[in-house]
Amino acid sequence: MTEAARGTAELTQAFEILAERDIDLSPQIYERFFQLRPDAEGLMQQADANMRGRMLDQTFELLMDPELLGPESYFRWEVTNHVSAYSVSPDMYGPYFQAMGEALAPALGDAWTLQIASAWQVRVADLLQDLGRASA
Ligand code: HEM
Repeated sequence: MTEAARGTAELTQAFEILAERDIDLSPQIYERFFQLRPDAEGLMQQADANMRGRMLDQTFELLMDPELLGPESYFRWEVTNHVSAYSVSPDMYGPYFQAMGEALAPALGDAWTLQIASAWQVRVADLLQDLGRASA
């Protein structure tokens, strides 16, 4: 399996379960994210619940889709765009993913298996590494 695909199959399974259970984690993810990075809340003041929801959905896609990582990828474009258009700092991504992981684990309960937990760690680490290359 290529590096760009590691963890994506397991995470697809996790997000499918979340969708089946109709759980919306958006409020708690952003609350935790802003607790970890209060300066991110300032940047997102104009972003209403719909926009925040779309950003989260897009992030879930990114976690599930092996094609979205690597040179010329959506992710690198997205980071460059966020940094230049919204003054987002690359070191906000770690806390953003952390907030997401902290919400996902309890929401999935028993379905958050060791396999999924380790896929989560691998995928997030790969994304953060890719981000380092994007913003280098
Ligand atoms: C993988 C991570 C991320 C993805 C995929 C992502 C994706 C998106 C998308 C798709 C939008 C546009 C939503 C729409 O208008 O439909 C957006 C807007 C935005 N995102 Fe992100 N985002 C990510 C991480 C972050 C982080 C870490 C921050 C830090 C604060 C951030 C701040 C913003 C801001 C400020 C906007 C614009 C809000 C506005 O126009 O008022 N994003 N993001």
